[in-house]
Amino acid sequence: MVQFCKKKYKKNKINFLLKDIDKFKISNCCIISSFYTIQFISPKKRQMLINKIFKGLNWGGAFFMVEKVRGPDARFQDMLNQVYIEYKLSQGFTESQIISKSKSLKGILEPFSTKGNLDLIKRAGFKDVITVFKYGSFEGFLAIK
Ligand SMILES: C[S@@+](CC[C@H](N)C(=O)[O-])C[C@H]1O[C@@H](n2cnc3c(N)ncnc32)[C@H](O)[C@@H]1O
Repeated sequence: MVQFCKKKYKKNKINFLLKDIDKFKISNCCIISSFYTIQFISPKKRQMLINKIFKGLNWGGAFFMVEKVRGPDARFQDMLNQVYIEYKLSQGFTESQIISKSKSLKGILEPFSTKGNLDLIKRAGFKDVITVFKYGSFEGFLAIK
């Protein structure tokens, strides 16, 4: 993807880096965006990462965080899961492909609920947060420092 982007956007002044976010220094940023990535960071390290993002933003800077989210309780989680499975089937994926993807992500993709994500963002220091996108199990937050 990095090679692809470097080639595609060679005329733009954009740096594409392949780094582990845990080891990457964040400072003097106006916008930080994360699309379906924080859900892969170990839950025990997640708060430290959001704290680092808060610290790395300039005052008034924006953090866009889009994640797969769990439902607020078991019933809603079951409903969201069922709707998503039905959507995948309607898109032509087989039952075996759906189960195999779900098995491959077990213990790797660890979504938090909406509240879990908002708690992370607020504990880091953000006071102004809204949901800017929500579709089934997918939600985008905008937090402004
Ligand atoms: C589901 S993909 C999302 C990719 C892209 N943001 C998008 O929306 O299409 C998850 C991404 O998280 C990245 N990722 C997972 N753990 C990471 C880490 N510790 N540091 C940096 N990136 C990480 C993976 O390399 C992968 O590209």
